[in-house]
Parts: sequence; structure tokens; C-alpha cells
Amino acid sequence: MNLQMFDLPAHQRRRKAPKVASLVALSIALSVATIICVYSPSLLYNPGNVPQAVPSSDSPRESIRRPEKDDEPEAANSPEIEPSEPPSSIKSDLIVAQTTLDRNNSERRSAPSPSPSQGDENEGRTRIPIQRSPEQTKRVSPVPNPAGGIDHSKLGDKESCDLFTGEWVPNPEAPYYTNSTCYGIYDHQNCMKYGRPDTNFLKWRWKPDGCELPIFDPHQFLEVVRGKSIAFVGDSLARNHMLSLMCLLSRVLYPLDVSTANDENRRWVYREYNFNVSMFWAPYLVRSERTDPNDITRPFNLYLDEFDDGWTTKVQAYDYIIISAGQWFFRPTNFYENRTLIGCLACKQDNVTQFTMNFSYERAFRTAFRAIISLANFKGVTILRTIAPSHFEGGVWDQGGDCVRTRPFNRNETVLADYNSELHKIQLKELRIAQEEGSKWGLRFRLFDVTQAMSLRPDGHPSKYGHWPTEKVTNDCEHWCLPGPIDAWNDFLQELIKREETKKSSYRYT
Ligand SMILES: *[C@@H]1O[C@H](CO)[C@@H](O)[C@H](O)[C@H]1NC(C)=O
Ligand SMILES: *[C@@H]1O[C@H](CO)[C@@H](O)[C@H](O)[C@H]1NC(C)=O
Ligand SMILES: *[C@@H]1O[C@H](CO)[C@@H](O)[C@H](O)[C@H]1NC(C)=O
Ligand SMILES: *[C@@H]1O[C@H](CO)[C@@H](O)[C@H](O)[C@H]1NC(C)=O
Ligand SMILES: *[C@@H]1O[C@H](CO)[C@@H](O)[C@H](O)[C@H]1NC(C)=O
Ligand SMILES: *[C@@H]1O[C@H](CO)[C@@H](O)[C@H](O)[C@H]1NC(C)=O
Ligand SMILES: *[C@@H]1O[C@H](CO)[C@@H](O)[C@H](O)[C@H]1NC(C)=O
Repeated sequence: MNLQMFDLPAHQRRRKAPKVASLVALSIALSVATIICVYSPSLLYNPGNVPQAVPSSDSPRESIRRPEKDDEPEAANSPEIEPSEPPSSIKSDLIVAQTTLDRNNSERRSAPSPSPSQGDENEGRTRIPIQRSPEQTKRVSPVPNPAGGIDHSKLGDKESCDLFTGEWVPNPEAPYYTNSTCYGIYDHQNCMKYGRPDTNFLKWRWKPDGCELPIFDPHQFLEVVRGKSIAFVGDSLARNHMLSLMCLLSRVLYPLDVSTANDENRRWVYREYNFNVSMFWAPYLVRSERTDPNDITRPFNLYLDEFDDGWTTKVQAYDYIIISAGQWFFRPTNFYENRTLIGCLACKQDNVTQFTMNFSYERAFRTAFRAIISLANFKGVTILRTIAPSHFEGGVWDQGGDCVRTRPFNRNETVLADYNSELHKIQLKELRIAQEEGSKWGLRFRLFDVTQAMSLRPDGHPSKYGHWPTEKVTNDCEHWCLPGPIDAWNDFLQELIKREETKKSSYRYT
């Protein structure tokens, strides 16, 4: 039984016919033949006998419709949820997955289908426009940056600097915590614990082309977020990110864990700063349900036009919502709109229209953003953290695929796999729609675009160092080691929040 990708979908199992990325400069030891792409398209199903999708999406849909919630929240009794008692809770979800996850789904089909263009999204608004409150300029006393020593004055023009295009450059001062200074690292992302021999992958920072991205400074960050709250909404990579944040902050202090037992969601409070962080488990962002309550490998039903109450009813008062989603959309899923089955992905019913995942991906983000816009009292900032590619090479996830590199790519050494690039485009498109709509209500939607940066980090995954060699687990090339490259996500986050808090927020998002 595979334990590893417990809380990511088993999408990799459907990966085949990997595509060779243009790995131009890879004179590295691996022979070209074994370099099967940086994340080969997991949806290269055999399109042969699959009907083309005929989505009828031009019909107007209700803009904001609340589902009647008649199901238990997904999180409430789902077997992969763990009780929460730090530090042990933080590393426990793998174990449960062991008993629930059968990754042997052999469905291998799907058909590429262009995602339909969308109808008018603006009908049915229910919220009242929010008056922008007077500019709240919080002055942060300059604290020397103990972490990186990067000169803030070198920060480029905030109005124009694109943080997200750049390259990884050496940073001998990293990492800023270890598995002994931060208790919270999940076992299966605690790569050093499992004997990862190389440490150079820890010693990089992100350098945007046009400016510097300051290294995360826990003292300064805590001052900036004093009195604020952050909600992470998404899947295990959202949690991976949240734990990185917690570890970086652990140089100053640990949070109080106020999570409820048996809840996949996490809630932490930094009392001294009246700052709290929550993670809402919502891998599909929209309302979803299992077709088999006891078997997570069975298809999920996605209600693509319905809000997921598990988070949408709880984030209203938060200052920041960081939303992300990805790998779960590769799983076999049934798509519902208006409570009607309209199609599916990798399902067995021949009489149901087959869609690609970019259909559900697009709808899910649109509905999630719409949910946020519909929250009449929400005044916060919504940040879309874009898709972070995985990096299986030499095979698919369950057939020996691995990620054994020990240094980042230069940007001329790799390209984003096509389908990742598609998903990324969908995210940007949906973000723009939300920005436009949100601006009518005084709501800010921001881009947090990690996709390029992370596509350059094949060296940052646990690989086989997320478990003991004796454990029968496939290599993890999806999550990220902690410490590791996603610590840079908090460099970004710090900068994004700083921009918001000083209202110098009109920066480019493309
Ligand atoms: C890729 O970029 C690096 C650094 O900019 C450079 O040294 C190398 O020659 C480039 N390789 C190719 C194949 O262009
Ligand atoms: C949703 O379905 C109901 C009945 O099934 C129908 O009356 C209604 O018109 C549908 N709404 C939309 C927007 O398609
Ligand atoms: C997994 O799939 C293989 C090949 O399709 C089959 O031989 C095996 O019995 C399956 N295992 C389970 C647990 O279904
Ligand atoms: C959706 O998927 C198909 C095939 O993978 C692709 O051709 C299409 O351009 C994708 N993207 C969008 C936005 O429709
Ligand atoms: C931390 O990593 C070291 C190896 O660097 C390992 O020996 C130790 O067991 C790990 N400790 C924890 C608490 O994970
Ligand atoms: C965190 O802050 C938000 C917004 O003020 C609040 O709704 C939520 O209850 C807080 N969570 C905890 C665990 O204190
Ligand atoms: C598909 O066919 C099956 C078996 O004939 C039937 O039970 C099911 O209702 C059909 N589904 C749809 C959406 O037509």
C-alpha cells in the first residue's frame, strides 16, 4: 500500500507518455533518455475512444447561489484527518492515509477539450458595495533583517517590479530553521530526518529580475500582521506553506494550536501579536463529496457552482485569504452544475461527457472567487497562490519516477509542461475576472505567482526522504521539503502583505 501522496490525489497514476521538456542545458549526469520531463502531463490519457466534451456553458448560471448544506462537512469525519495536538498532530496525517488510500485506480482516459468560454458572471450579486476605509497606513519600525541582510533600499520600484519573474541565486545564509529548531515539520516533509544527504538545495533565494525580494524577517512580519488574520484555503500544499510560515516564525515564537480534534483544518494563534493563521482544507475549493464515503480513491462529485461551506462560511472576518488548488483536480471526478451531472473526468460512464480537468479547474476557481465576493462583510485581500509543478523524472509517480536533482534549474533549462501552463493560464484568467468584479465592491484580489519559480526547483521535493526506506512508499515529488524552497513563499508573502498594508498595492500581476 502506498502511503505517500496521501493527501494529494493519485493523479500521477494516470500519467503516461511523458513529454520531454526542453531540457536544453542538461548535460547533467542523467542521460537524456531518463529525463522524462519535469512533471509529465498526468492527463495524457489515451484520447482514442473518448467523446469530445461538449460543455454547454454558454447558458447563464446563477452567479451566487448558496448550496443547501445537507452533507456533513467533508472534513468532519474524513479518515485522513488527524486530531491536532502539536507537535505530534502535525505529522500524523500520513499514517491514516495508509489505511484509506488505494492508489491503484487504473482509469486512464480523458479527452482534451477546450475550456468553454464563460457567460456573464455578474448577475445575481447580493453584496453591497464596500466603501473603502480610509487608508490604513501601518508604519513598521525598521528592524534589522536578521535573516538575509538584503538591503531593502535596493527593492525596485514597487509599482512596476514583477516579483515573480526571476531566478534562484545562491544564499549561503539559508536555511533559517532546522528540524530541531522547528518542531512542526510534518514527518514526510522532514527530509533531513530521513537522511537526505545533500543540503545545497536549502541554499538559494529567489531573485526577481527587476528588484530584490527581501528574505523573510519574522520580527518584521509579526509586526506587519499584528492584529491580523490569514486563512490558507486549499490542499496539502497550502498546509505545506503554512508550516513553512510557522517554522520561519518559530525563530521568534510558536503559535498556540487551537485546532479542533478530528479536524483537518488548522488554527493557530499568536497571542502576543493578536495574529492568527488558519488552514481550511478545501482541495477542490467548491463543494465536493465522495461517491464512496469509505474510499478516497473513488471519484468525487464536484458541485462546480456551489460554495464549499467548510471555508466560505468561516473566512469572512479574515484579513487575508490565500487560496490555492491543484493536484486533486487530476482525480476521477463527476461534475455537477445546478445539481445536474454535466460531465466527468476519467469516469467509467460512457454516457457521460468527458471533460478535461481544466474545465473543473476553471469553474472551481470562479466559484471560489465568487464565494468570496459574495461575503458581504469580507473586507480582506484575496491572494491566489498559483500552481506549483511537481517534478517526476524517469518514470511516472508509481513506476519509479523520482526527483533526484540537487540544484535548481536555470530558467533556460526547463519549460513548464503544457498542461501546467494551461492551468496557470486559467488561474490568471479567473483572477482577472475576480479582480474586475471584486473592484466594484472594493475588494482586492492579488496574484502570488509561484509557478515559474517552483518549476525551477526539481531539487526541493522529499523524493525518497519523506519516509524510511523500509516503508513501501513512492517517491514524493509533489510536496516540498521543510526547510526548503517554499520557504521563499513566505518571502513573497511578506512582501505582498507589506505592499497591502502600506497600500502601495498597485503592482503588476502579469
Ligand atoms: C543557461 O543560462 C545560464 C546562466 O544564465 C548560462 O550559463 C547557460 O549557458 C545557459 N544555457 C543555455 C543552453 O543557454
Ligand atoms: C436548475 O435546475 C432547476 C430544476 O432542476 C431548473 O428549474 C432551473 O431553471 C435550473 N437553473 C439553471 C440556472 O439552469
Ligand atoms: C492494481 O492493478 C494491477 C494491474 O492493473 C492489478 O494486478 C492489481 O491486482 C491491482 N491491485 C489492487 C489492490 O487493486
Ligand atoms: C484545456 O485543455 C486542453 C487540452 O488539454 C487545451 O487544449 C486547452 O487549451 C486547455 N485550456 C483552456 C484554457 O481551455
Ligand atoms: C533532524 O534531522 C536529523 C538529521 O539532520 C535527524 O538525525 C533527526 O532525527 C531529525 N530530528 C527530528 C526531530 O526530526
Ligand atoms: C482568527 O481571526 C479571524 C478574523 O478575525 C476570526 O474570525 C477567527 O475566529 C480567528 N481564529 C482564531 C482561531 O482565533
Ligand atoms: C448512464 O447509463 C447508465 C446505465 O445505462 C444509467 O444508469 C445512467 O443513469 C446513465 N447516466 C446518465 C447521466 O444518463
